[in-house]
Amino acid sequence: MKKDIIFDAFVVRNDHQGFRSGVEAWGLDQLPEGDVIVKVLYSGVNYKDGLASTPEGKIVKRYPFIPGIDLAGTVVESTHPSYKPGDQVLCTGYEVGVTHEGGYSQYARLKGEWLLPLPEGLTHKEAMGIGTAGFTAALSVASLLRNGINPKDGPVLVTGATGGVGSFAISILSKLGFNVIASTGKASTQGEWLKSIGASSVVTREEAAAESKGVLSSEQWAAVIDPVGGTQLSSLLKRVKYDGAIALSGLTGGGQFEATVYPFILRGVKLLGIDSVFCRMETRQEIWAKLADEWKPESALRLGIHVHTLNELPDILAGILRGEAAGRSIISL
Ligand SMILES: NC(=O)c1ccc[n+]([C@@H]2O[C@H](COP(=O)([O-])OP(=O)(O)OC[C@H]3O[C@@H](n4cnc5c(N)ncnc54)[C@H](OP(=O)(O)O)[C@@H]3O)[C@@H](O)[C@H]2O)c1
Repeated sequence: MKKDIIFDAFVVRNDHQGFRSGVEAWGLDQLPEGDVIVKVLYSGVNYKDGLASTPEGKIVKRYPFIPGIDLAGTVVESTHPSYKPGDQVLCTGYEVGVTHEGGYSQYARLKGEWLLPLPEGLTHKEAMGIGTAGFTAALSVASLLRNGINPKDGPVLVTGATGGVGSFAISILSKLGFNVIASTGKASTQGEWLKSIGASSVVTREEAAAESKGVLSSEQWAAVIDPVGGTQLSSLLKRVKYDGAIALSGLTGGGQFEATVYPFILRGVKLLGIDSVFCRMETRQEIWAKLADEWKPESALRLGIHVHTLNELPDILAGILRGEAAGRSIISL
């Protein structure tokens, strides 16, 4: 491979001229260390990418920097024993796009141990349509199933329903036969779309997390997939059915909540933490294999993916931070 190749990358800078971002021409020698070079075909846009695009996000510690926590593409050079030029791969997590230059670039240099072969049954575009958000949704579903939640136990509430994690959770759960209730701040504009990807009914955020005085409320949901967190979690915990669970993955609604012990000790409710960044490689392989096959979220992939270019990133990243996402945006490199 030619060493002097020049390519496009979306770069954030923070120096004496202030904070700014835009598409720049970079060379391979500007990329960090790694044993595999990938020609990136698609990347995805996640809430964390929004945070990486502004100094207030406080997650990027080194500038100039290329964000993009997801990428899929073709290996063009490798000294890693598992990969050779021509292999099709994807990468999510491991702090790529946070501490290591990420996917908003036509080339990325990565550690081979972070990569997964693109599963048969998924194109690069579909893999990035799913991305970290869809993978996190699938981890959440897997955690609920491992904890004994079945479709016959009753409805499952999904919060932040129009977002990446939420929309893919709806698509997967409905495919597995669950009765899915979508909680959203956009019920009036996106309610029909949420039903088209698999929700059986749609409620507003306020309805889902209505305040109640007691330490417990009437039992409503067998489980909750919650990428929103924040104060509403206190109300959700009071409404989960006996032996139910909440799979908690995010904080778009805030990082703090108050709770009592009662849902846990009187109803056996489980609060399940979900992490996609450092989850074990065997888990990644298992979950991506399902996403390419019996859990493939066809409805969300068909109806919820918007393809953009690198130049459009500033608007999309600003929109995701304002909570405007409906489905997933992906970047074609
Ligand atoms: N644990 C992990 O490994 C992991 C992996 C991926 C993502 N996450 C986290 O999960 C969260 C969601 O990620 P995402 O990629 O799905 O983001 P996203 O596409 O931006 O979706 C977030 C959704 O949350 C809802 N929302 C936004 N602001 C809100 C607020 N103030 N109060 C209540 N709801 C609000 C909105 O949905 P509605 O309008 O429909 O309510 C929005 O579409 C983020 O916090 C992200 O960092 C964690």
